[in-house]
Amino acid sequence: MVKVNCALAFCLAWLSTAASGHDLAPSKEAALRRAPQIFNAVHDALRQWGSSMHHNGMSLFLVTVPTGVLLHHGNARRESPSEPDWLAFEIEHAEMFARGVDRPRHARPPPLPPPPGQKPLADEEEEEEKQQQQQQQYGDGPAANDSRSGYLHVYRTKRPLHYLYVDGMGGGKTTIGTLDTQDLLLRGDRSTSGGNGNGSSSSSETPGSHHVSGSGPLNERQRAEDLCKLCRAWNLQGVMRMEAGFEIIQCDFSDGLHQVQALRRPPAAKRSLRRLVHSEYLRGVAERYDGIGSSRALIDFSHMVSAFFFPVNLTNPNPGRPDLPRLSEATDEELAAIKSFLEDVIQQQQRQGDTQSPITWQGVSDMIVSRYATRLEFMIQKIDELEHMTAEINVLLDVYVDQTEEDAAPSIPDAVERCTTFYLQSISPASEIDHLIYAAFHAVTATICNKLFHVRDLIHSAGASRVSVLSKAKYELQSLVDFLDWAHFKRCSKCDLGEVCVIPMWPFGTAEDYFHPRCGHFWDVPGKRYWDE
Ligand SMILES: *[C@@H]1O[C@H](CO)[C@@H](O)[C@H](O)[C@H]1NC(C)=O
Ligand SMILES: *[C@@H]1O[C@H](CO)[C@@H](O)[C@H](O)[C@H]1NC(C)=O
Ligand SMILES: *[C@@H]1O[C@H](CO)[C@@H](O)[C@H](O)[C@H]1NC(C)=O
Repeated sequence: MVKVNCALAFCLAWLSTAASGHDLAPSKEAALRRAPQIFNAVHDALRQWGSSMHHNGMSLFLVTVPTGVLLHHGNARRESPSEPDWLAFEIEHAEMFARGVDRPRHARPPPLPPPPGQKPLADEEEEEEKQQQQQQQYGDGPAANDSRSGYLHVYRTKRPLHYLYVDGMGGGKTTIGTLDTQDLLLRGDRSTSGGNGNGSSSSSETPGSHHVSGSGPLNERQRAEDLCKLCRAWNLQGVMRMEAGFEIIQCDFSDGLHQVQALRRPPAAKRSLRRLVHSEYLRGVAERYDGIGSSRALIDFSHMVSAFFFPVNLTNPNPGRPDLPRLSEATDEELAAIKSFLEDVIQQQQRQGDTQSPITWQGVSDMIVSRYATRLEFMIQKIDELEHMTAEINVLLDVYVDQTEEDAAPSIPDAVERCTTFYLQSISPASEIDHLIYAAFHAVTATICNKLFHVRDLIHSAGASRVSVLSKAKYELQSLVDFLDWAHFKRCSKCDLGEVCVIPMWPFGTAEDYFHPRCGHFWDVPGKRYWDE
């Protein structure tokens, strides 16, 4: 059980975990078992697309927002908030909240207008009425009042600010698992975990009561206060999360922010073409599908803390969604041990300061995904001839095969090994966490390379039954795609200028949007909301 060869800083962290009475530690075995999930967590971090696809985040990262970054806030006052409050990375996101009456503490953005075609664009009055109805349905309550103007604030960071980033759709106030790391792991509050496990929801708020007056959906105000209490103790400025747009729970607006401007907005009801505003909000968010942009937030991957590293049960008790991990089956002791490990990692990182340049793990994942993802899809969907498949596989794999000996058969095990470690050569893992990530990445590339060489073998030994070999090859490639589960595989091909690839992003979207993303202008309004499970 005791790990002997651990880096000094890690040993300190590990020892203090052990000293606090539980011996649950990260393990290479767990990392290998969750290799694709760890790979995806690294690859999806701070990216709106992958984090929407893999929306039940199980990982926490330390991020730095550098000096000079603009952040946005919408509310009913010219003054800056005096309590913990929300900052958006996209101005379109904040504008949704620049309304006359503060919505109950960062509830959902205003409801969506109906999709195009459902009614004529100019029919604003009828639309208004419909929105009033939807407002009730979306939990805004009678407090919402669109007839007064609000303020749109812009802030600029005065120095590098440090946040705890909870990955996935951490801003999604749902009971399907998007809040697990915040509520179960960080806050130790089981009331939002969907009524699973023990079944006795302890708090006043039961799952399904998405709105308690004054506290926002699923107790959001209390969540912000609890998280800020932790952040103050950990010397962090707040928590970073994602919903339809990346956001920050800023614990203190006077800590490191310069107010650039606070502009009065016209009453929302008077703003023209609300549907256009909504589709442009979707566009603004979709522009961040591949990254938050302009180095506005930097992740230290070498201090990643993931539940995937620990030997805990992450099975979803909802048998309908085995693809989504949950923390609801983990015991309180296990959750406390992971939190305590996180605390140690935070302290360790702060002691270390900027002395070590972190490993760009996400860059490594990009190199791997960009070499294989589209080619795998192409081979499965577009290739109908065995010769073509052979050529494609050879292009992918010949670069790893040493053909120098004219007669001798090249060593395939060597080639598989070269293929497996190819993109991992650029980095030198330093910390114990680097080694866990390395193990996961290595397991992923080993699976890719073994599978591709297997398919190559299959094709080369093809005799008469060429058609069945082709379909067998495609079957094998599809099983690789299923194993990898890269968010890339769900992306639409290029959309029209007026459209984006639509996927549910809390609070918007339907199940159809999740399972079959498509080019569109809006999130679908009709149909059951994806997030209400
Ligand atoms: C909304 O604000 C307007 C203007 O201040 C006020 O006249 C109206 O009564 C308010 N409506 C509600 C429902 O609060
Ligand atoms: C369920 O939770 C209740 C209240 O927190 C506790 O008293 C009880 O022991 C728990 N039951 C089980 C089986 O864990
Ligand atoms: C993990 O949790 C699931 C869902 O409750 C349960 O079915 C399974 O038996 C658990 N696995 C282990 C190893 O405890």
